[in-house]
Amino acid sequence: MLLGITGGIAAYKAAFLARLLTGEGADVTAVMTDAATRFVGADTLAALTGRRVHRSLWERPGAVIHVALAHDADVAVVAPATANAIARFALGIADDLLSSTILEYDGPLVLAPAMHTGMWTAEATRRNVAVLGERGARFVGPVEGALAHGDEGPGRMAEPDAILDAVVAALAMTSTAGMSTAGTSTARRSTTGTSLAGRRLLVTAGPTHEPIDPVRFVGNRSSGRMGVAVAEAALARGAAVTLILGPGTVGPPRGAEVVRIETADELRDAVLSRFNEADAVVMAAAVADFRPKASADAKLKKDAGVPDLVLEPTPDILRELAERRTRQVLVGFAAETGDVVAEGRRKLASKGVDLVVANAVGRPDTGFGSERNEAAILAADGDDEPLRSTTKAELAAAICERLARALDARA
Ligand code: C5P
Repeated sequence: MLLGITGGIAAYKAAFLARLLTGEGADVTAVMTDAATRFVGADTLAALTGRRVHRSLWERPGAVIHVALAHDADVAVVAPATANAIARFALGIADDLLSSTILEYDGPLVLAPAMHTGMWTAEATRRNVAVLGERGARFVGPVEGALAHGDEGPGRMAEPDAILDAVVAALAMTSTAGMSTAGTSTARRSTTGTSLAGRRLLVTAGPTHEPIDPVRFVGNRSSGRMGVAVAEAALARGAAVTLILGPGTVGPPRGAEVVRIETADELRDAVLSRFNEADAVVMAAAVADFRPKASADAKLKKDAGVPDLVLEPTPDILRELAERRTRQVLVGFAAETGDVVAEGRRKLASKGVDLVVANAVGRPDTGFGSERNEAAILAADGDDEPLRSTTKAELAAAICERLARALDARA
């Protein structure tokens, strides 16, 4: 892979990134601009990557070095990417080794912007970012935090591990895999099921929290484990996965694009804004069915007495997706404490989805928070899989297999 480093203070963090990338087994070739070398030494990058660091178009007479670098790379990441670098990439200016290489290169590109807040929010930068986004570049960050000149705000470069995740996600998207996903490189290679390569999946996971006031919420016991297991299984089959993750206890797998949400409304926005590009949606999130009708702006005081909590229904996202769908395969979950299969079948019909995973909850050995699940996969075409106890990983694999076959059948 190609690691472009441009001239910002965050360039020192590119050294950490290089170490993370080589630790994942990547062959990293660093290309530094002149300004970058003011912030971090080329020798540092050479030592960390074990490779020569390139800095100039003219370093070997007769060699067309930018073309060789561009053609050798499976993925390119520029971290930090300054406002100037972003502008030059957007315009196609090729006046140094890095900009010439990026112009020649046509693989997955990840950019980690780092600049002052005013530069990031400037109309010129907004437009350049939009242009590059339309061409398929992935942006990771910037995040809010301390900036040069003692200021704070958006503009700080994303942390190296977040950039690594974006690189892995970019690779998964193009299925030029060679790096591990979720530390499961062997799972990726040993997968025998139907492939999901080239498919875009939206997976939701975890609970939603519906605010009562700034510190209290209505929530549920979902950990997010089931949805994360589905995301992992889909990544292992080569899918590009966007994981929309509520505030549970389980972290996301490496390789997924991760969107964090708190409330049902945020989850709805996150899913709907990505729905058109998706081939399938797996709604494993335990979306709250009810939320407080009004949430207080200030913390409710105990002295003011017990509040009357009036609840209202949240939007039924899955039903809305079923109404809007064009080609997407939809998978819902039915978390039940009673007759799991009968309730699941009812939900399959009422929600208008292709598959419902009906699972037992409310017991310590299955469902929320547990490693195992007692579940049946119920299908609109009647080809059900009966209720059985499995690990969440096994169930996730079974869901992905059904999903992959449904997508192939539609193609
Ligand atoms: O209606 P119920 O909550 O039992 O249905 C569960 C399924 O519907 C899950 O797949 C869940 O993610 C989804 N759901 C939803 N919007 C809600 C509630 C649940 O999409 N407001």
